[in-house]
Amino acid sequence: MDTDVQRLRQMSGLVTPMALRVAVTLGLPDRLRDRPATAHELAPELEVDPLALDLLLDHLVTLGVAEPMGAGYRTTPFGALLCVDADNNLNNLLHQDSAAGRADLAFIDLIHSVRTGGPAYPVRYGQDFWTDLAEQRHLRDAFDRQMTDRMRDWVPQVVRNYDWSRFGTLVDVGGGHGSLLAAILEANPAMRGHLVDLEDTAEGARAVLGLYGLGDRTEVTGGSFFDPLPAGADAYLLFDILHDWDDEQAHRILARCVEAAPDGRVLVVESLGESTEFDLVMLVHFGGRDRGLHDFERLAAAHGLKLASVTQVTPGRSLLEFTR
Ligand SMILES: C[S@@+](CC[C@H](N)C(=O)[O-])C[C@H]1O[C@@H](n2cnc3c(N)ncnc32)[C@H](O)[C@@H]1O
Repeated sequence: MDTDVQRLRQMSGLVTPMALRVAVTLGLPDRLRDRPATAHELAPELEVDPLALDLLLDHLVTLGVAEPMGAGYRTTPFGALLCVDADNNLNNLLHQDSAAGRADLAFIDLIHSVRTGGPAYPVRYGQDFWTDLAEQRHLRDAFDRQMTDRMRDWVPQVVRNYDWSRFGTLVDVGGGHGSLLAAILEANPAMRGHLVDLEDTAEGARAVLGLYGLGDRTEVTGGSFFDPLPAGADAYLLFDILHDWDDEQAHRILARCVEAAPDGRVLVVESLGESTEFDLVMLVHFGGRDRGLHDFERLAAAHGLKLASVTQVTPGRSLLEFTR
């Protein structure tokens, strides 16, 4: 077959992505890493059909994720990258009952997003991503963990590549569990920080900031960034926040920052349209938008904010500093 045709077939195939996700959801990489087993031995344990499991395992062998072992299968070193303890965020991203793995299944309804410009997530689940997280604690925990894990490698770069010491007080708006705010404050002992996030996540942030011994220099508020924000800070950080929202909602968040401190800086950290795949993820999961520099300038201008500088803080993220 024409290699281009083959390539297109491979690119458009749903089988392998779903096989990997089902393998992770069933816990196969972990289960078969230490104790090889046959499909017949595993099926009752996992409450699945033995013949179907055999087909799945055979495809995992084709992918190099599992290998035959006697009459059964075991996880290869490549497949072990999918294990819970592999420390690479993959398991949490692919598990169908984690926040991201579950949300990715909404890609089946990508056509809805393309037709309407809205998220496909509610088509599949009946309500939006954030409402699901509020109602299902394990999804909220998985999402917070996903955010903290992806931030881990970035933290030293973000702290190093931007001069945070200019600010006496920083509000981290939608700051997650606070690992970035903690590192910024550790590196800048004169600074104080205030983190705002939804209550369940704010609870985790209090614990993290407490572990860093920063309780006396930080405040944590459980609440919405669509409501008034802590007033009078020198800077308001929106790290990977605006891309989760459409323009109308992004305007409401920016308005809250400006209202809280008309002379404060607004620091927007985003990927500036560098990954087309990521753009589609924002659309399908959240009805969000990945924007370019000019889109941010236009959004901010409506609030009297002017772009003062652009700093690449990590390979995939730029910090846009806005001032009034
Ligand atoms: C993509 S995460 C980014 C988290 C953090 N800034 C980071 O970069 O790791 C978006 C964050 O916004 C929070 N969030 C979502 N809706 C919110 C709301 N209405 N008010 C406050 N926080 C919200 C989420 O809980 C989550 O922590």
